[in-house]
Amino acid sequence: MQLRFGVLLFAACLLPAQTPEFTGVWKADLAKSKFAGPPPSSELMIVDKQGAILKITSGVTDHHGEYRSSVAYNTTGTESKNEYHGLPMKSRARLDGDALSISSQVAGERPTAISESYKLSSDGKTLEVQSTASMNGKERTQTVVFERQPDAAGDPLRQPEQTAGEHFKNVQILKDLPASRFIDTMHYFSASLGAKCEKCHIEGHFDSDDKKEKKAAREMIKMVASIDQQNFKGHPKVQCYTCHRGAEKPLAAPAFAMPGAETASVAAK
Ligand code: HEC
Ligand code: HEC
Repeated sequence: MQLRFGVLLFAACLLPAQTPEFTGVWKADLAKSKFAGPPPSSELMIVDKQGAILKITSGVTDHHGEYRSSVAYNTTGTESKNEYHGLPMKSRARLDGDALSISSQVAGERPTAISESYKLSSDGKTLEVQSTASMNGKERTQTVVFERQPDAAGDPLRQPEQTAGEHFKNVQILKDLPASRFIDTMHYFSASLGAKCEKCHIEGHFDSDDKKEKKAAREMIKMVASIDQQNFKGHPKVQCYTCHRGAEKPLAAPAFAMPGAETASVAAK
């Protein structure tokens, strides 16, 4: 009996330290935050926890409309896999008292490392999220200060998002994707072809079909869908990167190993 009491007491002491109240609905206080780029007009975040899994859904609204993302981290330090703007991301997250730290790597030709720290105020009402992204030796740091909200404040983020067809002007094929997923797909296209948005778009006129590359990309989307449908039971086994591998024009045969050396020897003749 005495032992059980002891165990209970011990558990009671341990519990608050192990599960700080990150969970809940949070809204960014824009005036107290420092954004790396242009500040959004609002930022909302819902944090849920199931066992060791922390799920973070966020919605950032700026002049383009709402962009949503959803990630899940295992807080015991085991590797978690998510996506970051359409590219694979692997992360390790650790809960340590009232602080959560996450370090992530984003795959790609120009890999990005992101480290985030979440700090809860002692009254549990304020959550400060500092994140640093480093790419090509350049670092961008931002600090967003969130204030705790009543649960109902999270309702807009729980509603289904607009589809790309509803949200954009001239989406013909990827109509049914949620709008955020559509933008992530655009980032994936860019990364797959090693190209900027302007490869397929006229700057500031994303709805225009004037570029032949955009039309080519539409045909490619249909081609990829039919390859997967006909050969892989509809599983997305073949995607843009499968062929393109970061190049605008995929190679049909291996390239010469050392083009530099070859030019040098030709020039020497
Ligand atoms: C490889 C070509 C390609 C690249 C690169 C690309 N896009 Fe697109 N984009 C398309 C195609 C194709 C569509 C139309 C899709 C459809 O009809 O389903 C489109 C449509 C869009 C739309 C919808 C516009 C509207 O109102 O109809 C937006 C917004 C957009 N792209 C943004 C971007 C951004 C931002 C980037 C860079 C991160 C980008 N795109 C890179 C091919 C591309
Ligand atoms: C099965 C292989 C394969 C896949 C998968 C594939 N492509 Fe291509 N793509 C090609 C080839 C080959 C070419 C080059 C044709 C040529 O040389 O003119 C090409 C050309 C293009 C071009 C024109 C490039 C230029 O400079 O004119 C665009 C844009 C493009 N692909 C976008 C995409 C997108 C977006 C996806 C994914 C939805 C995709 N491709 C998936 C094989 C593929």
